[in-house]
Amino acid sequence: MTDWIRVLIVDDIEETRMNLRKALSFESRIDVVAEAENGFQAIDFACKYKPDIILMDINMPDMDGIQATERISLKCPSANVIVISVQREQDYLRKAMLAGAKEFLIKPFSPDELIQAVITVYEKNKQRAVQVYAHQILEQGYVQSPKIITVFSGKGGVGKSLIAANLAAGLNQRNKKVVVLDLDLMFGDIAAMFNLKVKETIYHVVQEIERLDAESLLSYLYETNSGVRVLAAPLRPEQSEVVTGKHVEKILRLLKETHDYVIVDTPAQLTDPVLALDSSNLTLLVNTLNIPVFRHNRTVLEVMDAVNYPTDRVRLIINRADLDTGIKPKDIKTALGMEPYSLLPEDKYADLSINRGEPLIEMKPGSKWAKQMNKLIEMISAEDERSKSESWLSRFVWKKKRK
Ligand SMILES: Nc1ncnc2c1ncn2[C@@H]1O[C@H](COP(=O)(O)OP(=O)(O)OP(=O)(O)O)[C@@H](O)[C@H]1O
Ligand SMILES: [Mg+2]
Repeated sequence: MTDWIRVLIVDDIEETRMNLRKALSFESRIDVVAEAENGFQAIDFACKYKPDIILMDINMPDMDGIQATERISLKCPSANVIVISVQREQDYLRKAMLAGAKEFLIKPFSPDELIQAVITVYEKNKQRAVQVYAHQILEQGYVQSPKIITVFSGKGGVGKSLIAANLAAGLNQRNKKVVVLDLDLMFGDIAAMFNLKVKETIYHVVQEIERLDAESLLSYLYETNSGVRVLAAPLRPEQSEVVTGKHVEKILRLLKETHDYVIVDTPAQLTDPVLALDSSNLTLLVNTLNIPVFRHNRTVLEVMDAVNYPTDRVRLIINRADLDTGIKPKDIKTALGMEPYSLLPEDKYADLSINRGEPLIEMKPGSKWAKQMNKLIEMISAEDERSKSESWLSRFVWKKKRK
C-alpha cells in the first residue's frame, strides 16, 4: 500500500475547498488529487481518481453529501469518506455514518485535527485491507505451488530491475498474486520503478523477524494501483548490512504462503542474501551483447554448479539483443553453452517508463520489447502449468503404484 494518501475534497464553496487544500499541504504524505463542487461530481471523481480519502461537505445544492456518500460507498467502496459539517445535530451524523462515512469532523477544526483524521482513517483502512486479504487467502487455503523467480546477472546495469518489474506486472495482469522482493539491498530501485513512496522496508522486517508470520509480513508490503506488491530495499545503504541469508530464507518462505509468484531483483554480486536464493524455482540470467557481461555470467554459472544449483532452472535472457556491438546472441550461446530463452530488444522508452514509475508493458504495450516480454511471461506461465500437472500426475502414478 502506497504511503501517499490521495485525497478528494468535496465542497460547493471554492474558498472552503482552498482552505482545506491549504491545511492539508502541511502534511507531505497527503496529495489532494481533485476537488469536486457538488455531489454528482464527487461520485464521478471518486471513481475516476480512486482517492483513499474523501472530505465531504454535507450541505450542498442538488445532491447533498449524505446522498453522495451513499452512492460512493456502493460504487467505489475503496474510498473512505470523512464527513465535514457545521451541523451538530445527531441526526445528520447518524445518517452520514449509515450512508457509509468512516469519520466526521465538526467545523471549526484546526489543520492538525484535519490531518490527524485523514491519517487515522487511512491507516485503519490499510490495516483492515491487510486483514481482509490475509483472511481471504487463509480461507482459500495456502497458495498452491508458489514459485520464486530470481532475476540475476554477474554484471550491473544490464536491465535486471526493468525485467523484474515488468515480469511482476505481466504476471499480475494474468491474475496471479505477485510480490517483488528487492534484494538489491544497497541501491534497490524496485519501489521507484512502480512509483511507490515507501517508509518501511526489508530493514524494518528484519527487526521483527523472530515474531514474523505470513500475515504480519503483509503489512510491510506496498501495493501498486494495479495490485503488484513490493517488499522494498532499505532506504539507506548502511541499513543493508543487517539483512542475512537466514532472514531472506524466512522472508521467502512466508511470502510464498500468500503469493503465486515471488519475483526477486538482485544486485550484481553473490552476497549472502543472494546465495539464499538457492530455493529459487527459476533464475533468469540477464546478459547484454557485451563481453564482460557474459564473461561474468560464465563465472556465475560455474558458481551455481559448485553450490549444486540445478542449471536446468537457469534461463538465459539477452537484453538489448538487437544492438550492433560486434557480438551476436549466438556468440553468447557458444560462450555459456546454453540456448537463449528470450531476446529482448533495445527500447527507447525504457528510461521514460522507469522515470514515470510505470512498467513498460503497461506504458507501451504495443512495443516490440513489451511483446517479447509478454512472450517470455507466457513461456514461464506455460512451464509452471506443465510442472503443476506433472507433479499432480506423478503423485497420482505414485499412489497407484502403492496400491
Ligand atoms: N532493453 C532496453 N532498452 C533500452 N534501455 C534499457 C533496456 N534495458 C535496460 N535499459 C536501461 O538500462 C539501465 C539499467 O537498467 P536496470 O536498472 O534495469 O539494470 P540493472 O541490471 O537492474 O542495474 P543495477 O545493476 O544497477 O541494478 C536503465 O537506464 C534502463 O532504462
Ligand atoms: Mg537493478
